[in-house]
Amino acid sequence: MALNVLLVGSGGREHALAWKLAQSPLLNALFFAPGNPGMARLGHNVPIEASNMTLLLDIARREHIGLVVVGPEAPLAAGLADACLAAGIPVFGPTAAAARIESSKAFAKTLMISAGIPTAEAHTFDDPTAAAAFARASGRAWVVKADGLAAGKGVVVSETLAETLDAIQALGATLAGRRLLLEERLSGPEISLIALCDGERVLPLIPAQDHKRLRDGDAGPNTGGMGAYAPAPHLDAADVAALSRQVMLPAVQALAATGTPFRGALYAGLMLTEHGARVLEFNARFGDPETQAILPLLEGDLLAALLACAGQAPLQPDMLGWSKGAAACVVLAAEGYPETPHRGDPIEGLELIDDPAVLVFHAGTAWENGQFVTAGGRVLGVTGTGPDLQATLARAYRAVEMIHFRGMQYRRDIGARATRR
Ligand SMILES: Nc1ncnc2c1ncn2[C@@H]1O[C@H](COP(=O)(O)OP(=O)(O)O)[C@@H](O)[C@H]1O
Ligand SMILES: [Mg+2]
Repeated sequence: MALNVLLVGSGGREHALAWKLAQSPLLNALFFAPGNPGMARLGHNVPIEASNMTLLLDIARREHIGLVVVGPEAPLAAGLADACLAAGIPVFGPTAAAARIESSKAFAKTLMISAGIPTAEAHTFDDPTAAAAFARASGRAWVVKADGLAAGKGVVVSETLAETLDAIQALGATLAGRRLLLEERLSGPEISLIALCDGERVLPLIPAQDHKRLRDGDAGPNTGGMGAYAPAPHLDAADVAALSRQVMLPAVQALAATGTPFRGALYAGLMLTEHGARVLEFNARFGDPETQAILPLLEGDLLAALLACAGQAPLQPDMLGWSKGAAACVVLAAEGYPETPHRGDPIEGLELIDDPAVLVFHAGTAWENGQFVTAGGRVLGVTGTGPDLQATLARAYRAVEMIHFRGMQYRRDIGARATRR
């Protein structure tokens, strides 16, 4: 089989997926829509936005695409997988109905409760006034969540009732916040667990930990993610198997039971509380930057596994293996990220990195006048791999220090807490 694959998206996650898919013996050619300059070396960048469903289907037909792989959540929520299926094109990624597990936090909460999946207690409100009245009557602070997709800006973990009321007002005024959730506040380390799903079965990947805040020590504003490492030492293989049974499988079974089977990457954002793991949210796609730390450790054919999820072959529990070491991804963000990332700053030093154990994934970059320049909030992800986390981090940071652009921001403490355990 020589397959043409269309990968939709343009971030670091998609570059990592492209890098791994390019190793598949099943592959003929890779197409990216729209891709980024780093991905261009692995296939063909096609200048079509992830949101342009008509043109995506045109290119899929024209290039005889045998599998569409959808990276980001927005096109999934908009029904890109449905459109591919209607056109008879195999797709890795859930339908809009199944993607509601991410695109509606109220839907996900109801599903979790009915499927017995451990999660935080929550109350859902269709208008902010009712939410505020409930919060006032409770006399305490809540985690306030907008129901819909909000690109990481839809959750406020408030400390006081006054902050809760402010958050209700602020989120309630947004499109994503037309419906609100008030959730009990939990505490503990956060872990991302991603499983490949074929609608019935689940194949968990190694667990990863993301670093959401901009600055060292988890200070500063929330971001899309400033770095990640894998495997997260908090969960061993038995824990992952248990979570696969108690969280991933029940979610997939619940979606199948309502006639909307989930085919794609199911991501559980978990908090490891003193009472056990609780699901904070599900995502309907691979994590970014977790994917940049997970895939470098993957031994096996990712394309074969994604094809199986798309219903083209059976998904087998032993399809994928993992190398023994660790991987860590340090995100290099633009000046002004996350509020107002500066664009157009020349990126220097990329050509100096010659460590074969280091991978540089592009995200917000552009190629202008013969050089790479910044073109988005998260610019690059530098992933190191090695026998253990400490060696891995040393490699990643050695490479990071060779790269320079004006106002470059990165965290110096990715994975640091885990090496101290
Ligand atoms: N119930 C909760 N208790 C404590 N912190 C929470 C809770 N829910 C979410 N958070 C924090 O807020 C972050 C974002 O929430 P999440 O549900 O993952 O939404 P999203 O990723 O869509 O912004 C989490 O990573 C976690 O740090
Ligand atoms: Mg999250």
